[in-house]
Amino acid sequence: MSRCRICGSSISPFMSFGRQPISNAFVMPEQFASEYFFELAPAFCTECHSFQIIDQPEAEQMFHGNYAYFASTSRYMCDHFKRFADDVSQRFLAGKADPFVVELGSNDGIMLRNFADAGVAHLGVEPSANVAQAARDRGVTTICEFFNDALAERIVAERGHADALLAANLMCHIPDLHSIAAGARRLLKPDGVMIFEDPYLGEMIAKTSYDQIYDEHVYIFSVASIRWLFDKHGMELFDVQPQITHGGSMRYFLAPKGSRPISPNVERQVAVERELGLHLPETYDRFRRNCEASRGELIALLTELKAQGKRVVGYGATAKGATAINYCGITPDLVEFISDVTPTKQGRFSPGAHIPVKPYDAFAADFPDYALLFAWNHKAEIMAKEEAYRAAGGQWIVYVPKVEVFS
Ligand code: SAH
Ligand code: TMP
Ligand code: ZN
Repeated sequence: MSRCRICGSSISPFMSFGRQPISNAFVMPEQFASEYFFELAPAFCTECHSFQIIDQPEAEQMFHGNYAYFASTSRYMCDHFKRFADDVSQRFLAGKADPFVVELGSNDGIMLRNFADAGVAHLGVEPSANVAQAARDRGVTTICEFFNDALAERIVAERGHADALLAANLMCHIPDLHSIAAGARRLLKPDGVMIFEDPYLGEMIAKTSYDQIYDEHVYIFSVASIRWLFDKHGMELFDVQPQITHGGSMRYFLAPKGSRPISPNVERQVAVERELGLHLPETYDRFRRNCEASRGELIALLTELKAQGKRVVGYGATAKGATAINYCGITPDLVEFISDVTPTKQGRFSPGAHIPVKPYDAFAADFPDYALLFAWNHKAEIMAKEEAYRAAGGQWIVYVPKVEVFS
C-alpha cells in the first residue's frame, strides 16, 4: 500500500513492468555494472483520478548536464511548437503591452525560440544544463533550475508576473505537483493563463501504449485529474484541446478562478472519459491484460524472425523504448542495434538491455530486413523520409496500437 502523491489516499499498483533503468541513461560498458534500476509499477487513484507510478528515481538522477533528449530532433515537433506559440500569441497576448512568457521544461528552446525571434520577453526554466545551453546558443533566455513554488517567488521578484506560463511534456515529470500549481498561481498575472500539454491517459488506454509509462512520466493525466488538482490552488480549467503529438496528448488551459468563461469542451471531454471508463478499476485490469498480450506477440514475432535469419534493427532510441525493451525482454540477440539521429546517444548502449545505439548512417548504409519503430509517435514523419528503405523491400514493425508488420 502506498499514498497517492496528489490526494494522500491509499493506492496500490495494478501491475508491474518489472525492474527498469533510467530511460534516457544511454550507457557505456564501464557503467553496465553500476546501472540504476527501480520497480516500475503504475497505480490509479479513484479519489483524485490520478494515474501515477509508485516509485520514481530522484529528479537529479534523470535531469542533469548529460540529459540525452533534444526536442528539436523532430522536424514535425519544431513545426508543432511554432503553431503552439502562434496560437498563444494570437489568442492570449494580442493587444498586451510588453507581454512576458515563461516556459517550464523548455529543453533546447524548441518552443521559446519563436517568442525570442519575435522579440517577446520570455524565460525558459530548464534544469538539464546541456539542453539549457543549446537553448541559450540560439538566443533563448534560460535559467538552469527546477521549477517549484520557491522559484516562482524568485522569478516574480526579479522579473515580474507572467502573462503566459507554458509547458509541454513537463508537468507529467514532476512528483510534487502541488508546488508547481501553487507556483503557477503565484507567477501569473490576474489575467494570465497557464497552458500545458502532456500524453493523454485516454489515448494510452485506447492504444495500449504502455511505453508512455517510464521513469520520467510519474503521471499520465486526464482532464478529470487536472481539474481536481488545480481546483485546490485557485485555478480553473477553462479549455482543453486534444493533440496528435506523442501518440495522443491533451492541451490544458488554466486561469485564476472566475477570470475566464469555461468552454463546453471541458465538460464534453470529462463525459468522454467516463464513457471510456477511466474512473473504473476494471479499465486498468483490462489494460494490464492488453500489455501482457502485446508483449507476448512482440517477443513471438522477433523470435520467429531471428529463427528465419532476418536482420531486425530498432528505429529511434526513445525513452519509451526503454519500457518496451526491458518489459518485453528484447535483447541485442533479437535487435541488432538501434538507429538514432541524436549525437549524444550514439556509440552508447540502451539502458537495461544494452542494445548498441548507432548513427542513422548505420541504418541507411545497410538496410535491415525489418525496422522496429520505437519512435512510433513520429511515424508519419519517419515514413515520409524512408521511401528508399521501403523501395528496397524494407519492412516495419510497430507495437502500438497493436503488434503489426507493414511495408
Ligand atoms: N518541452 C520539451 C521537452 C520535454 S522533456 C518538449 O515538449 O519536447 C522534459 C524537460 O523538462 C527536460 O528537458 C527536463 O530537463 C525538464 N524538467 C524536468 N523537471 C523540471 C522541473 N521541475 N522544472 C523545469 N523543467 C524540468
Ligand atoms: P521521442 O519519441 O521522445 O520524441 O524521441 C524520439 C527519438 O527518436 C529521439 O532520440 C530522436 C529519434 N529520431 C530519429 O532517430 N529519427 C527521426 O526521424 C525522428 C523523428 C526521431
Ligand atoms: Zn489521489
